[in-house]
Amino acid sequence: MPNVVVVGTQWGDEGKGKVVDLLTEHADLIVRFQGGNNAGHTLRVGEEQYILHIVPSGILYEDKSCLVGNGVVIDPLVLLQEIRGLKERGIDIHTRRLGISARAHMIMPYHRALDAAREQAKGDTKIGTTGRGIGPCYEDKAGRRGIRFIDFVDEQRFLSVYRSNLEEKRKILTQVLGSDLPVEEPGELDALLASARELAPYLADVSVEIKEALGMKKNVLFEGAQGTQLDIDHGTYPYVTSSNPVAGSVCTGAGIGPKHIHFVLGIVKAYATRVGGGAFPTELTDAVGDHLQSQGAEFGATTGRKRRCGWQDLVVLRDAVRLNGLQGLAVTKLDVLSGLDTIRVCTSYECKGKKLDSMPPSLEMVEQCRPVYEDHAGWKEDIGEVREFSDLPDAAKKYLRRIEELAGTPISLISVGASRDQTITLQNPFSI
Ligand code: GDP
Ligand code: IMO
Ligand code: MG
Repeated sequence: MPNVVVVGTQWGDEGKGKVVDLLTEHADLIVRFQGGNNAGHTLRVGEEQYILHIVPSGILYEDKSCLVGNGVVIDPLVLLQEIRGLKERGIDIHTRRLGISARAHMIMPYHRALDAAREQAKGDTKIGTTGRGIGPCYEDKAGRRGIRFIDFVDEQRFLSVYRSNLEEKRKILTQVLGSDLPVEEPGELDALLASARELAPYLADVSVEIKEALGMKKNVLFEGAQGTQLDIDHGTYPYVTSSNPVAGSVCTGAGIGPKHIHFVLGIVKAYATRVGGGAFPTELTDAVGDHLQSQGAEFGATTGRKRRCGWQDLVVLRDAVRLNGLQGLAVTKLDVLSGLDTIRVCTSYECKGKKLDSMPPSLEMVEQCRPVYEDHAGWKEDIGEVREFSDLPDAAKKYLRRIEELAGTPISLISVGASRDQTITLQNPFSI
């Protein structure tokens, strides 16, 4: 019966995919509720690695169902490619295992062109988006000129909205943004129409399907994308994504009431990373930053960009506890800290002589924040084979207990490597 939400607490890439894949063992239904193929969730099973962008991370378990909610934006060509790629690798995908909300909005090629052109026009102040057309698609959704999956699979309706949008986008691209990017490539429309025919069987009423699952006392796992500091309302605006990665978004993005959420698990890397532009108070541009980047293999799973690295930031984590109502933490990539002499934890910021315990809303202020650090002893041991908390080096135990204390939230899981089994479980969120 318990339904669990997994959210990112930082700037994304915390290891949500690994944790969702792991927890899927205890779930019957896995649901994405926001974001799109800006997400890149990596799952490691034995020697195999899978990077998922739209399909929920529960898909590797044969007897589980996966749903993509109305709050997600979907690039049909990317989704089709992902389904085909998984099938080629022997993952059984059929319409009883994967459903896509009829109300989810579709990313069109013109959204990608607009994303690129807007970034180009911004120059030095660009957001550093993934270039997947996410922002422009959510803009059209809010502007009530979007194309939902149900409209996409109706050829006549699709063509009429698509053509009228195309004209508007052409003008914005050329006359407003001064871009020479094409609004439509030759053959693109045919590919879209073909993808609509192929994807149509996956059409689902996600809210209704979840209700049925809840009626049968099934366990539902909601898979967040991005992270709390990338939230369009609560993050480091405007250097954010265009959706709400916080837990509250499950209700609107999947179509359920808040009473059905029983446990919110926040995924937090043992250090901090950020990909793209924007303030990052604990960023390290020295040898320690390089250590984290190389030991942690910190390259974007979607764009391949190098991720910026820094120390653990408790201002960010406390924000995530408050904004998501976190009941437990999953600390990932603890193994990456092995070998460091000293491990620093930012406990607050100092800004214009004042101590700050939460992220200020003003971008200018965030840029002026200086982290206040607390130093902890590091450890040298390789911890990739540790499976019990008691077997961790004392320094690692102290570091974790301090994070728990500063966040005011218990640690449920500790991840010491990318594989499923490289996990220390202190509390299974499904057994509450
Ligand atoms: P997500 O977007 O939150 O799902 O995270 P990503 O998949 O983008 O990035 C996390 C990366 O760290 C992936 O390459 C994972 O395979 C890897 N990973 C996850 N947990 C651990 C861990 O505990 N240790 C190490 N070394 N790698 C991990
Ligand atoms: P997962 O789910 C890390 C970042 C981009 C950029 C900003 C806006 O794998 O954690 P967008 O394309 O969404 O308009 O870009 O958000 N971003 C992510 N960073 N992980 C992600 O997803 C991200 N999705 C978007 O780098 O800074
Ligand atoms: Mg990622």
